[in-house]
Amino acid sequence: MRVIGIESSCDETAVAVYDAELGLLSHRLHSQIAMHQAYGGVVPELASRDHVRRLLPLVRQALCDAQSDRNSIDGVAYTAGPGLIGALLVGAGFASSLSLAWDKPALGIHHLEGHLMAPLLEPKPPAFPFLALLVSGGHTQLVDVAGLGRYRILGETLDDAAGEAFDKTAKLLGLPYPGGAALAKLAEAGRPGRFVFPRPMLDRPGLDFSFSGLKTAALVALRGRVLDDAIRADVARGFQEAVVETLAEKCRRALEATGHRRLVIAGGVGANRRLRERLADVAQSAGAELYFPRTEFCTDNGAMIALAGCMRLTASLAAGGGGPTRGSRLVAARANWELGDSGADAAAATGV
Ligand code: KG4
Ligand code: ZN
Repeated sequence: MRVIGIESSCDETAVAVYDAELGLLSHRLHSQIAMHQAYGGVVPELASRDHVRRLLPLVRQALCDAQSDRNSIDGVAYTAGPGLIGALLVGAGFASSLSLAWDKPALGIHHLEGHLMAPLLEPKPPAFPFLALLVSGGHTQLVDVAGLGRYRILGETLDDAAGEAFDKTAKLLGLPYPGGAALAKLAEAGRPGRFVFPRPMLDRPGLDFSFSGLKTAALVALRGRVLDDAIRADVARGFQEAVVETLAEKCRRALEATGHRRLVIAGGVGANRRLRERLADVAQSAGAELYFPRTEFCTDNGAMIALAGCMRLTASLAAGGGGPTRGSRLVAARANWELGDSGADAAAATGV
């Protein structure tokens, strides 16, 4: 079983080939960051147009790297949502065309399911069930993962996502978009304890998050100061500590509440070194094992979509339904799509 995966939900065009027996055979990615940087954020129309330009060459390269051709591919997986609708439609339209031309099933994958499955690309993958902290630019959720498509959201952000808070605060610090990784780097030079920001929602029970106030706290701390490198680094450090401590404490509570013995970090903020360190402590204290994807598979990539597609296709064939329809004419994409919706079922991706 071999599946090609296409990711185009935001500002990365990515393609990968995953084989159920051999593992990941190839993955290629083009980042649009340089193109969007001049505007300080993603410009949706530019993103869509660039996906159109990049997809075909990336598919050719990924197939060539994997020493595969259309005959050895059993399915075409693509990100069907959530994300920027124009960007999603480019990937969905492209994947559906391949599916028709190759007479192979198309599989619309939930982007967050891709993130949740990404740790399974590593040599020592977590077994189901596990507790996942999903922290990306658009989402912050604690998810009880019983298996593929069996997700229960235990808590989520009430306003900004953790990555969004990193990006907005990075902007205040004068760092270029997307500032998360740059802020984390700056924080390394900061002095601990120089700025102590609030730990949102730790004073009340539950597993929800709120990060929008933190960026305001950073803004207030910066106001009226001469912004030299030392102050910027100190604020970055204080901000990162506040986010990491909040995430860590909620993970501790969720491990305690669920009794899970496996904790998985997924999504772009999962690349944060400090977060990984703190969650390693939390996992150890709870007697749990910590899992995370390699850095390049924390942020958006095609490998996680190819893997999720391969798992979905395998499961659907095993269920005896003959698998998804070959050459489906449905171009399915949804800008908004809850992970819990019918288990993020690929077939549930409705056309627009
Ligand atoms: O998962 P992802 O690539 O895209 C979404 O699905 O949203 O996550 C991107 C987010 C951005 O907000 C980016 O700033 C953040 O992940 N990020 C980081 C780090 N690397 C990426 N945040 C904190 N520390 C990092 N090292
Ligand atoms: Zn993502």
